[in-house]
Amino acid sequence: MAKSRSVFFCQQCGYESAKWMGQCPACREWNTFTEEPVLVKSGADNKARSHSGAGLQPKSISEISHDESERISTGIGELDRVLGGGIVSGSLILVGGDPGIGKSTLLLQVCKNLADKEQDVLYISGEESLTQIKLRAERIGEFDDRLKLLCETDLEAVSDCISKIKPSCVVIDSIQTMSSPDISSSPGSVSQVRESTNVLLKIAKSMDVTVFIVGHVTKEGTVAGPRVLEHMVDTVLYFEGDRHASYRILRGVKNRFGSTDEIGVFEMSEHGLTEVGNASAFMLEGRPEGASGSVVVCSVEGTRPILLEIQALITRTSFGMPRRQAAGADYNRVNLLMAVLERRTGLKMSDCDAYVNLTGGIKINEPAIDLGMAMAIASGYKNRPVDPGTVAFGEVGLSGEIRSVSQAELRVKEAARLGFTTCIMPKSNADKLKGIKDIKIMGVSSLDEVIALI
Ligand code: TYD
Ligand code: MG
Repeated sequence: MAKSRSVFFCQQCGYESAKWMGQCPACREWNTFTEEPVLVKSGADNKARSHSGAGLQPKSISEISHDESERISTGIGELDRVLGGGIVSGSLILVGGDPGIGKSTLLLQVCKNLADKEQDVLYISGEESLTQIKLRAERIGEFDDRLKLLCETDLEAVSDCISKIKPSCVVIDSIQTMSSPDISSSPGSVSQVRESTNVLLKIAKSMDVTVFIVGHVTKEGTVAGPRVLEHMVDTVLYFEGDRHASYRILRGVKNRFGSTDEIGVFEMSEHGLTEVGNASAFMLEGRPEGASGSVVVCSVEGTRPILLEIQALITRTSFGMPRRQAAGADYNRVNLLMAVLERRTGLKMSDCDAYVNLTGGIKINEPAIDLGMAMAIASGYKNRPVDPGTVAFGEVGLSGEIRSVSQAELRVKEAARLGFTTCIMPKSNADKLKGIKDIKIMGVSSLDEVIALI
């Protein structure tokens, strides 16, 4: 006999506790615990389920067949790149992101491409009506009849439907709307989301169906964030970017079948998401030439170099405490670089407000953008522009030294390709570079040398 009891779940990370707690011991968030009933199976039930394991036959690695060409292309190059070369069939892929960023649009486009390739695809929406999906689909293009739509939130009905149709790909939009009748807590709660994902995981692995799951992210713990699911799925992709601007960046956070450093760049157009192949040119669009505090840097995301503009605005503060703000760059890194600049190059910035911005809405944590950021801050402080044909990259150490970074050649080539004339880079990297024409290379070893150029 099943008996019911209730436990408390942290709505942020899914931590389970028998008692209510003010702060979650796992993720340190406050006031995130809510009570949810769970179903406890009695001992007899458990015994009936478990099997002895006598019939199990473990395999050696050489016995397992695998073919790299088994990856299925989604027909969207940028998405394939983030997935590590295409979809691995039978995988469970979570796509997270803010509302309105384009998750449903991207997945509908994937469905269209797969259906065009004569694959059966099932799109299950718990959020929108069939008419709403049709309206979106009309903006994207003509759809093959192999794509089937379903509006349903009951997990049992969904899994029955999948077993009946046997599609090669299923999209669940979104996991927060799915609910299992066995669990009495409301849809979107941790136990519902976890149970739903578990059921979908079993379907994906046993029937060799690729399952895409859409997950919403909310800062407040009212709806279970996809954090809880990240451990269960094979691949986690996040959409970032400004909802009000047209570009979107798809980033791999976890990938059991590929690298996680790759990013895909998209633009939201009138006909759905379009790929942006030349990301650097896109990111540098509308750059002010000859303005102080603006420097172009080169960052490498996965295998792809991207040129970005860093802007810094430095003004005398009108309050007792200077204000510092960073968008796209790490706030603490900005503070650190300002301290290094002040101490090692003598720029007096302790009574200045500083606003640092990475244009394009992209977030970069790579230390290779340090040098460019320091140059932008110095240029903003001195109110003297940096030559617009200059690209900079390098890590800045605490004693003001410029340290080498990886993949220098790739970065220099990208800068040359986009018509930049000078590249300021760590001396140790510059010494190793050979045979680069078209662009002037300046190897520097300390911040002093660089600041003297501005
Ligand atoms: P949507 O995929 O519904 O976002 P999500 O599922 O992540 O919540 O995207 C909605 C936004 O995209 C909405 O603001 C309208 C816009 N959009 C376009 O600009 N062009 C298009 O062709 C489509 C389909 C949507
Ligand atoms: Mg949606």
